[in-house]
Amino acid sequence: MDIKKAKEIINRLSKELQEHNYNYYVLSMPTISDFDFDQKLKELEKLELEFPELKLPDSPTLRVGGEPTKDFKTVSHKYPMLSLSNSYSEQEIRDFDKRVRKLAGDEIEYVCELKYDGVAIGLTYENGFLTQAVTRGDGVQGDDVTNNVKTIRSIPLKLKGNHPDIFEIRGEIYFPIKEFNDLNLKRIEDGEQPFANPRNSASGTLKMQDPKEVAKRPLDCFLYFIPSQHSEFSTHYESLKHAETLGFKISKNIALCKNIDEILEFIDDWDKGRSQLDYEIDGIVIKVNNLKKQRDLGFTAKSPRWAIAYKFKAERAETKLLSVDFQVGRTGAITPVANLNPVQLAGTTVKRASLHNADIIEKLNLHYHDFVFVEKGGEIIPKIVGVNTKLRESNSDKVSFTKICPECGSSLVRNEGESAHYCPNEDKCPPQIKGKLEHFISRKAMNIDSLGEGKIEMLFDHGLVKDVSDLYKLEYEQLIGLEKIIPATESKKEKKLSFKEKTVYNILKGVEESKSHGFEKVLFALGIRHIGETVAKKLSAHFKNIEALENASLDELTEVDEIGDKIAESLIGWFSKPEHKKIVNSLMDSGLNFAIAEIETISKLLDAKSFVVSGVFENHSREELKKLIEQNGGKNIGSISSKTNFILAGENMGPSKKQKAEKLGIPIISESEFEEMIGG
Ligand code: IVH
Repeated sequence: MDIKKAKEIINRLSKELQEHNYNYYVLSMPTISDFDFDQKLKELEKLELEFPELKLPDSPTLRVGGEPTKDFKTVSHKYPMLSLSNSYSEQEIRDFDKRVRKLAGDEIEYVCELKYDGVAIGLTYENGFLTQAVTRGDGVQGDDVTNNVKTIRSIPLKLKGNHPDIFEIRGEIYFPIKEFNDLNLKRIEDGEQPFANPRNSASGTLKMQDPKEVAKRPLDCFLYFIPSQHSEFSTHYESLKHAETLGFKISKNIALCKNIDEILEFIDDWDKGRSQLDYEIDGIVIKVNNLKKQRDLGFTAKSPRWAIAYKFKAERAETKLLSVDFQVGRTGAITPVANLNPVQLAGTTVKRASLHNADIIEKLNLHYHDFVFVEKGGEIIPKIVGVNTKLRESNSDKVSFTKICPECGSSLVRNEGESAHYCPNEDKCPPQIKGKLEHFISRKAMNIDSLGEGKIEMLFDHGLVKDVSDLYKLEYEQLIGLEKIIPATESKKEKKLSFKEKTVYNILKGVEESKSHGFEKVLFALGIRHIGETVAKKLSAHFKNIEALENASLDELTEVDEIGDKIAESLIGWFSKPEHKKIVNSLMDSGLNFAIAEIETISKLLDAKSFVVSGVFENHSREELKKLIEQNGGKNIGSISSKTNFILAGENMGPSKKQKAEKLGIPIISESEFEEMIGG
């Protein structure tokens, strides 16, 4: 095909597919079958591959996700991203209305909107194209999550109609409820921790490093605010209607209200009606409609004076306490959990509620068989917020906190000043062993992502893994067909899951690959109390191998920068246990690194020059670059100071680092300049 023809088809298909996306995701009125849409998208993908120079900046193929981001760039908001002041009662709304009328006059109209429970996002369009999407962060600066946001189908990559050169709009990214439940079910089946609520899954998804993974999740977005100070509109309502014509998804559930009664009616309707929505809302936002009046009312340090959020009350139910269980967490902390007479609350049946710790039980003065009030906040586990003492049985016993671990029988300890009770039997108590295994495989430790919480549980329950060293002894035959039983939920039958060929292959591959991690990661992965990532790095750099570390005295340990008595004592205590030595020896036999790799020197070209490496690079990972620096006689340092010789900067280098480097006059070099420095 000649280029002219290709251009014509690419332009036509892009336009057509954009329109279909808009019809489907914004208007919810598809005019094409999924099959035909996919065919056209494939045709476009094929042509773009053949003629990459013709790909449009807003091509619908971008929705499948671009390149992964290592660290999200921190960006300053042009206008601070403030929050709203919250209110919980009719009286507070009346007070707000009075304040507004006093300051802005009696002629007031309000816009009532739903308060979407998701993640706030600020979108910037330059010359009509989406160029930046930033999370709220601390309100002044947020994370640049543009590549992930581009995968959200209802957010236009290019604006329709007339638009200013620079256009900013804000809204809320949310995870629809049904899809959230499907995702959690899948996560449980895959042995991953389910998300606590749709808001957490939206924020977790937005922070994923690979936009291709984000593209697989059905995030959506309502826009609700245009922050520019000199608007061409006279009301907020008009500005939203205009945003709709630009292609944004604006909720239809908005009302113009003239007085407090109309506002209260809107609140009441949605408090009752919110369970019918396919996304979560946690209240109503009330905004002064007139933009001039908004400007007159202005802002306090934290929030606008022209708006307020009414938060729905957590629903409450009363039921009988049947018994109290004590659960042992992964760190050995004991959590008391109440078993309740089943009761309906916010659309679900509640049978259990968390009691948190001994102090809370004491404060509630809880007795067995008490009638208790249960509330459900944002969390998935409801909590007991009070006792109806009028209904207390006269001879009921007070709930007392257990003295022994319900899992292993050890006597519990409670450290001074801490609210939790702990089981001290860290190596033999089953939930604690699982906790250690989970820490060992976690991303910052050995990063075995083919294993998750659920799979660890299975391996432990089947007796295949009793401590971390057993992971390296796993064999194909032991794993294939291994079964996990997922208990029945209300609607589904009990389910049996078994490891298939691909799962087993991935587990064994992940375990094998983890052997290449350096000593500092292995040391961190062992889960010795108080040995975090940074401490593990310091210790491994200083002692160089495990023998030296193990034999170090308290004085030798505390000589190391930032190592105090607490860390030193924890290390000595850990190494004094024969079972820990056995684990280390076994891991050594399996080939894990217990000494830092001596850096072989290639040249002296960088001659003791110090470098700060920052950002994402094209040809090398940051770790590779740091290694090259050392191999060529240079030094790596963590932060910029007047002693730094060079900043090796990739894409997405933080703006504060850049500023500091410029202020100190330190040369910023690119990856290719660095490559030249070390001889290409
Ligand atoms: S307007 C200047 N409208 O609630 C304030 N916010 O604490 C502009 N939210 O951070 C915000 N639904 O993330 C506005 N219809 C709505 C909203 C909404 C949800 C969130 C937003 C904000 C938080 C307020």
